[in-house]
Amino acid sequence: MQSLIDAFHRAGQEHVFAFLDRLGPTERARLFAEAAEVDLVELDRLRRTLLGRVAATEIADVVPAPYIPLPEKGGDSEKWIQARAVGEEALRAGRVAAFTVAGGQGTRLGFDGPKGTYPVTPVRHRPLFAVFADKLRAAERRYGRRIAWFILTSHQNHDATEAFFAQHRWFGLQREQVHCLRQGRMPAVDPSGRILLETPGSLALSPDGHGGSLRALERAGAFDRMQAVGADVISYFQVDNPLVRVIDPAFIGWHLLTGSEMSSKMVPKAYPEEKVGLFCRQHGRTCVVEYSDLPLDRQREVDPATGKLRFLAGSIAIHLLSRDFARRVARGEGGMALPFHRAEKKVPTIDSEGRPVQPDRPNGIKFELFVFDALPFASNPLVLETDRAGDFAPVKNAEGADSPETCRDAQLRLFASWLRACGADLPVDASGRPAFPIEVSPLFGDDFAAFAESWRRLESKPSSITPGLCLGADS
Ligand code: UTP
Repeated sequence: MQSLIDAFHRAGQEHVFAFLDRLGPTERARLFAEAAEVDLVELDRLRRTLLGRVAATEIADVVPAPYIPLPEKGGDSEKWIQARAVGEEALRAGRVAAFTVAGGQGTRLGFDGPKGTYPVTPVRHRPLFAVFADKLRAAERRYGRRIAWFILTSHQNHDATEAFFAQHRWFGLQREQVHCLRQGRMPAVDPSGRILLETPGSLALSPDGHGGSLRALERAGAFDRMQAVGADVISYFQVDNPLVRVIDPAFIGWHLLTGSEMSSKMVPKAYPEEKVGLFCRQHGRTCVVEYSDLPLDRQREVDPATGKLRFLAGSIAIHLLSRDFARRVARGEGGMALPFHRAEKKVPTIDSEGRPVQPDRPNGIKFELFVFDALPFASNPLVLETDRAGDFAPVKNAEGADSPETCRDAQLRLFASWLRACGADLPVDASGRPAFPIEVSPLFGDDFAAFAESWRRLESKPSSITPGLCLGADS
């Protein structure tokens, strides 16, 4: 332990052990374990590069990134059909693994428990994890291959997540195919770069951002596991979006056909101020520019040729990464290390006497990695348009935009649109939402084609749709 204390001393972080004499054996052990997690060389680099200046993103020369439009929006229908076939072939060959990032703190939702355990569906109140598991089971049935599922957890929610899966018997998946892996943590620092203590015996540590997911895959040996089962494409999605097409053959096909190392889905921004990252090009590379970094007047620019927003392509955090590319980025090979971003936050800490301090304004800086920062490193990156109604309805906030209510409504609209397209009698309002809750299990249909096929095979179709209808609930 002395060597650890010495290393912190040399790094100018000796205050971390200032209260050592006051700690009992368990608290000491915890403090040493947390201190051992800190990469002092990395932290020193961040102190030199990211502190003392406002991190300005150079955006003067960014231009919108090109994207492949949906067939109904002018895309090449033949190519979409071909892509779907290529994706299906890859799925039948077992080349795809699923990866959910669920290590966030979910502070805006304010739900007590891992976000993936949040009951999200309109009738059965199925948790987010169950929805994804059902989608994976549907894909496994269709393509006849088991799909390995990796789930990024945090130190805070790892045990609860594993317990939840065990309690629900892995939602019908095989226990061995579900792998929870803990993401790394970073210490928060004060403006001079000194690590903040949360208590006299613990550091103020927080998850290292969704970009930390790649390092976590590497640490957990997940890339080797993928390789062992022949999976070379990683389907990456966030835990808060029950509409996501967890396994999307057309997307996978486009990714493979274009030789892309990282592919991303876009939706056209709903309105200029919508808070989504934007796919752009800068210095000949594709990147995501955060909405807060692009001035509003530029976000409102209209392309005179199309009459649409110039910066139209919103990121919905759905990506495909080729396994070997993700591994190279995780290892930082060839200068491909993801950059850290800094965020000023209110970090509960202690004063020089060890008494708790609840700051009322930002007192600390947190460091986070973002997965989309891998895009500029990728060869042949691809941005593909998707249909928002069928792929994106996140639960971020307790109320208002992107809340459980808007997400539930989006699910209702999607299910209603499928039923109505198959001729079911279901009145809806002007927005397409039915007046009462209904639900379609992904095991009945995880997209319209699958739904229509199951509907066609239904022996007794309901003559009209009644409240609480639940299709595929017993599957
Ligand atoms: P968000 O940016 O929505 O953050 O994460 P959050 O932590 O879930 O929620 P707030 O901001 O505290 O309210 C987007 C996705 O990235 C994952 C989240 O779990 C979510 O799926 N994520 C985020 C991680 O896995 N690790 C992180 O460190 C941060």
